[in-house]
Amino acid sequence: MILYFSGTGNSLAIARKLADATGEALLPLRDAAERDLTAERTVGLVYPCYDYNTPPAVREFVSRLRLSPEAYVFIVVTCGAQTGNSIHTVRRLVEAKGVRVDYCHKVRMPDNSATLFGRNPNDQLWKLDKYAPRVEQIIGDIKARRHGRHFAAPGLAGTLAGLPAVERKLLGGFKPSVLAEHCIGCGKCIKTCPVGNIAMDDNGKAAIGDRCTACVACLHTCPQQAIGVRGKRPPMEHQYHYPAE
Ligand SMILES: Cc1cc2nc3c(=O)[nH]c(=O)nc-3n(C[C@H](O)[C@H](O)[C@H](O)COP(=O)(O)O)c2cc1C
Ligand code: SF4
Ligand code: SF4
Repeated sequence: MILYFSGTGNSLAIARKLADATGEALLPLRDAAERDLTAERTVGLVYPCYDYNTPPAVREFVSRLRLSPEAYVFIVVTCGAQTGNSIHTVRRLVEAKGVRVDYCHKVRMPDNSATLFGRNPNDQLWKLDKYAPRVEQIIGDIKARRHGRHFAAPGLAGTLAGLPAVERKLLGGFKPSVLAEHCIGCGKCIKTCPVGNIAMDDNGKAAIGDRCTACVACLHTCPQQAIGVRGKRPPMEHQYHYPAE
């Protein structure tokens, strides 16, 4: 079974490729956390790196997973450039259950947070071709049930970013808010949020709750560009989603 968490589709696309190639079922991590997976003999975890670490929602879901020590368990992280602590953190959570993580790897993809720094994630589509062979390599390794830990040590940035106070500050700077004057109440952001953190308020405007994991999916999805970070409306051409295949 391949379990995924994804805001803008990169991790879902990789998870889907792995599921198609191996014949494993595909399930959102959020749903898997409610199930007993101890009968599964293959469990893959696919998710993005945020701020040199694992998204808080992924940590919460993984900590609730029930897995068998007999399972072949692997992790694939998608990132813009560097995985920091994102693999270590989940590996530790899984291994605390007495379950070994057999294989870890990463795939670089367009950085969906680039727009928060004034850059266009769509300028990074070249990564999809460049890293396609990496995905094939991962598929081959998983099918052969190889063991391997293909990731660098987190380094100073990863270690610092893992400190709770630093992480709160970093992620806080990525959390979007609704620019109500532009919201037309279409509800697309509500459907998109992978943690169910957006609702409609009494005025027919989207309202973001307090469980935001900073995936920026809502910011990239809104057809009115009515969701921004630090009150700034994103340019339409910066809105990113993994392209349809
Ligand atoms: C809040 C936030 C923080 C991010 N931090 C990092 C990072 O530290 N390193 C990195 O390489 N990419 C970082 N990214 C980019 C994402 O990891 C990357 O675009 C990922 O493929 C998105 O996956 P998704 O489309 O499945 O949500 C960050 C993205 C967001 C939204
Ligand atoms: S997607 Fe945009 S316009 Fe639609 S409800 Fe959400 S914030 Fe409002
Ligand atoms: S509110 Fe937006 S940024 Fe926060 S978790 Fe939901 S979709 Fe992601």
